[in-house]
This record gives sequence, C-alpha cells and structure tokens, in this order.
Amino acid sequence: MKKLYVLVSVILSTFFVSCSNQSNKESNDMKTTNAVIENIMQRRSIRNYKDSQVPKDILDKIVECGINAPNAINRQAWEVRVINNPESFSLFKEYLVKDNPDTPKEMIEGCFRGAPTLIVIANDTSFKFSQIDCGLLSENIMLSAWSLGIGSVCLGSPVGFINNSQQAKNMLGFSEGYSTVICIGLGYANENPDAKPRDLSKVKFL
Ligand SMILES: Cc1cc2nc3c(=O)[nH]c(=O)nc-3n(C[C@H](O)[C@H](O)[C@H](O)COP(=O)(O)O)c2cc1C
Repeated sequence: MKKLYVLVSVILSTFFVSCSNQSNKESNDMKTTNAVIENIMQRRSIRNYKDSQVPKDILDKIVECGINAPNAINRQAWEVRVINNPESFSLFKEYLVKDNPDTPKEMIEGCFRGAPTLIVIANDTSFKFSQIDCGLLSENIMLSAWSLGIGSVCLGSPVGFINNSQQAKNMLGFSEGYSTVICIGLGYANENPDAKPRDLSKVKFL
C-alpha cells in the first residue's frame, strides 16, 4: 500500500512539474516571439524594388496606421503626401533636378532608391515635439507596410533637395509653417538584405 502511495505521488508530481514547465515555456514563448516582434525584427531597409505599384487600398491602410502613431498631446503636428502616380513622381523628380543645379541628376534620382511610391512627411516647425511625432508616424508606416509584404526605406537625403525646390514644394502643398522632415520609399522588395548589427551596449538597465 505504501509502495503504491509513493508511486502515485511520483507520477502526480512528475505530471505537475511537466505541466508547469510547459506553461512557463509557453509564457516565455509568448514574451519573446509573436507576430509583432517578428515583424519588427525582420523589417529591413529596402533599396531595390520591383516595378509593380502598391495597390491604393494597401497604401490607404499603411497611411492610416501611420497617423495612428502616438503623438504629443494628439496635436498630429504632421502632414503627409503620397506620390504613387508614376507621372507625378517623374515630374516631382524633374523639379528637384531643375532646382538643385549643383547636384548631379543621377544623385537626385538615385536618392529614392527606386521605390515606386514616395511618402513625404512634413512637420509643424513651431511645435517642439513635431519631429518626434513624424518619426513615430514613419515607423508605424514602415512596420505596417512590412507586415503587409511591402518593403520600405526611410529617406533623409531627398529632404534638402525638396526644401531647395519651390516647384516641388508647390506640388506637395504643405500648409504654412510645415516643412518636409523625412520621406519614405515604399514598394515590393526585390532584395532580401541581412539585418544590420545593433549595439546592445547602448542599453543599460538601472
Ligand atoms: C532619419 C533616417 C534617414 C535615413 N536616410 C536614408 C537615406 O537617405 N538613404 C538610405 O538609403 N537610407 C536611409 N536611412 C535608412 C538607414 O540607413 C537604415 O535604417 C539603417 O542603416 C539601419 O538599417 P535597417 O533599416 O535595414 O535596419 C535613413 C534612416 C533614418 C532613420
């Protein structure tokens, strides 16, 4: 009888330890892998795109995700322009080339990395948090795009060219007091770049 009691105890405790390990493992898995984390970790800047254009309904969803970013006092101190029409994009590039005569044409055209869609984001320069807000908006755009199978690249280099070009600025039509702060190229990726290394020593827990 005593032997039977010991045997049952051993079986039951093994069962409960195994269940508890399983549940710890599941909760650890929940913490370290899920669709959002995978999306963040797998996103890469894309600098080689297929010719095909991103459908308008997908662009609508991506931009909607953008403007749902956190932003200071919900002032939404941004304005967004999406250039997805190839003729408009060509004209836009023509203006930049014309109004930046000291920069080689190839450099201006190349700065868009071949992305078929360009999103231009402007910030309200009178509001101190507006650049941060635009950065958060940009990240929402790039992550939501990636989750929908669309590649992207954050583009700082066109900003100076745009700000030098009255014709490009007229085309964008941002409100008074707004200035282009960042651009994002979007399209279907034609490359699969490796992750760039990150420096964990920049992070300290106190
Ligand atoms: C503010 C900002 C400006 C950037 N400007 C450019 C750019 O002009 N051209 C470019 O090819 N990539 C640009 N990038 C992309 C970065 O080079 C890229 O994010 C970085 O190397 C890390 O690589 P990953 O995005 O693949 O993780 C920019 C990124 C940020 C955040």
